[in-house]
Amino acid sequence: MCGIVGYVGRRMLVPVVLEGLKRLEYRGYDSAGIVYLQDGALVKYRSEGKLQNLENILGEAIGAPAHIGLGHTRWATHGAPTTENAHPHSDCTGELVVVHNGIIENYHSLRNELLEKGHTFASETDTEVLAHLIEEYLEDDLRAAVSKALARVEGSYALGVLWTGMPDTLIAARNHSPLVLGVHDEEGGFMASDIPPLLPYTDQIVFLDDLELVVLKGDSHTIYSLVTGDKVEKEVKTISWNSAMAEKGGFKHFMLKEIYEQPQAIIDTVSGRINPETGSVELPEMNLSDDELAGIERIFLVACGTSWHAALVAKYWIERWAKIPVEVDIASEFRYRKLLIDEKVLTVSISQSGETADTLAGIRLARDLGSKIVTICNVVGSTMTREAHGTVYTHAGPEIGVASTKAFTSQLAALFLFTLYLAEKRGRMEADKRLELGRELINLAAVIDAMLPRLQEEIKKLIESYYDARDFLFVGRGLNFPIALEGALKLKEISYIHAEGYASGELKHGPIALIDKDMPVLGLAPKDAVYQKSISNLEEIKARQGRLILIGTEGDEHLKCITDDVIYLPEVHEELNPILYTIPAQLLSYEIASRRGCDVDQPRNLAKSVTVE
Ligand code: F6R
Repeated sequence: MCGIVGYVGRRMLVPVVLEGLKRLEYRGYDSAGIVYLQDGALVKYRSEGKLQNLENILGEAIGAPAHIGLGHTRWATHGAPTTENAHPHSDCTGELVVVHNGIIENYHSLRNELLEKGHTFASETDTEVLAHLIEEYLEDDLRAAVSKALARVEGSYALGVLWTGMPDTLIAARNHSPLVLGVHDEEGGFMASDIPPLLPYTDQIVFLDDLELVVLKGDSHTIYSLVTGDKVEKEVKTISWNSAMAEKGGFKHFMLKEIYEQPQAIIDTVSGRINPETGSVELPEMNLSDDELAGIERIFLVACGTSWHAALVAKYWIERWAKIPVEVDIASEFRYRKLLIDEKVLTVSISQSGETADTLAGIRLARDLGSKIVTICNVVGSTMTREAHGTVYTHAGPEIGVASTKAFTSQLAALFLFTLYLAEKRGRMEADKRLELGRELINLAAVIDAMLPRLQEEIKKLIESYYDARDFLFVGRGLNFPIALEGALKLKEISYIHAEGYASGELKHGPIALIDKDMPVLGLAPKDAVYQKSISNLEEIKARQGRLILIGTEGDEHLKCITDDVIYLPEVHEELNPILYTIPAQLLSYEIASRRGCDVDQPRNLAKSVTVE
């Protein structure tokens, strides 16, 4: 989705904004622009395509003596990804500019109204309407004009506005689209649609809520409610992420770096929450009393994409160990179906970003129906964490690669903790079992760490005979069925190979018709409770000449009788196999996509944080 960076302060504007936009590239975009104020006039540069194109046309302007301005990366919604449609957009005078994320739903009627009043439009975007609407209300107070304009708007926005009439001030506002401020006494004031652009300058962050407007200057920020017009006092939070976490650190791609960061992300997610002596789990930020926990009759897990796969795994865990019935929903379906939810239901949203529009809408609905809301989330202070009753943070650090890796395995680690916590609180698990499983989870990070380099080498060699495939199937059973779905998603999103994941037992109900000598099938076959069943399904694929890659448990020689292409993983407790077996699927996708020359970190058409429906 689009990215916004705004800055006012002592530093040179263009490098700050350009670097900030680079740190938002992971969000996905197809054009970019920048605007700054120099000698009382606005100077604007925009271009189609990658930021490099913008940098090329900026040329010497990179060193312009400007200290206030805005930048934007656009992911096209209204109008093609052309230079004319790239942000910033100007009013008729050229003295006011707007950058905007989100969708102005009533832009048609507003545009017609403004056209009738004589405004001229230079783009097809919904955003440009905002520039002209603010112009319409502007006398000498920019805050008042933006507030009046936004009162007319239906839809979602994160907004940055700059006007020559107030040369030391940026206006920011948000509604249903993320926007954060970074503040620092000496460096100045920053705004951005995500945290990474702020990290080189400050760890002091203000998370804006919906319908808030900010007057941002180099030495102050004042927040107002767009509903009442009153000032709003907000806490400035110190975050623990640092600038290096959002850099590649010697890896070729962010995705590979993040695959290698998984052991640390798991340790950070688990540590301090599980007592290695007793297996007792502490999740105080969940904010549910023992009575509330005891009263839960059903759990709904709501998420999108990769996070939905984490939910599917968690269903197996929670039902088995905490013995609470679980329903898993894709958020975009959940929000439009008749929900049988009341106060006895706990709704858990799972979201790496905490900003996904459908998941947010889902928890709002469930909350209105009386359900308590807990969110499993990686971004401190994100909208979902502020709207939920409680949170279980994953501590994966910033994830920049669009295809989620470490955020997913951290979600699984957090969901496993959540399961142990529920099982303990509801008296469903013996202390010995808890201790055993807790220790296995703590040890898992070291197992993954030790196997990663060897695994990557093996997979790199293996993919030489598979990287040019047109289709791919992933199959798994039980806890590893969702990992088959996740493996297929990873491969299709970064390599553009058509891939599908299936429960192994489903094959003979249709998909087996696809199997022939040209169809690669990756089978997840750990030595677990459903091992024999999995093997039978894999034999059926072999009998139809499918090209099998098997991932299984070290020492399982039988797999070699089925295919030559076997990848062995260390034996861990079978409950934790979904975390372990995700890693080779990620590496396979990564190596295939790299081999095919794909843009691994920023796959086409995709956005990291999907803040529109
Ligand atoms: C795929 C991927 C997406 C996200 C989905 C939800 O690799 O990352 O499928 O999982 O867009 O995003 P969050 O977790 O931020 O709600």
